[in-house]
Amino acid sequence: MAKAILTFADIGVSVTVPAGTRIIEVSEKVGAGIVYGCRESDCGTCLTEVISGMENLSEPSPIERATLAEHKAGANMRLACQTLVLGDATIKPAI
Ligand code: FES
Repeated sequence: MAKAILTFADIGVSVTVPAGTRIIEVSEKVGAGIVYGCRESDCGTCLTEVISGMENLSEPSPIERATLAEHKAGANMRLACQTLVLGDATIKPAI
């Protein structure tokens, strides 16, 4: 299975994960500073800045796009509860 390296810039930790892993699955285990509320792409609490590797993340679903727009998120932002890691990326909490 393909692997990806996900780096949490806020805590300086890199984790090798199977491609297709959701960010939320990893960030809670390593103690990154991303905070979760609904976990269903509704509240925007998990807004995350993608420092590099945006091209290696899953495409946002229509509901994620709507939540990102509602929170006036920049083009470098994603919801950690929704985003799948498909290749190497570096992220940090946006809130
Ligand atoms: S935890 Fe609510 S949108 Fe991700």
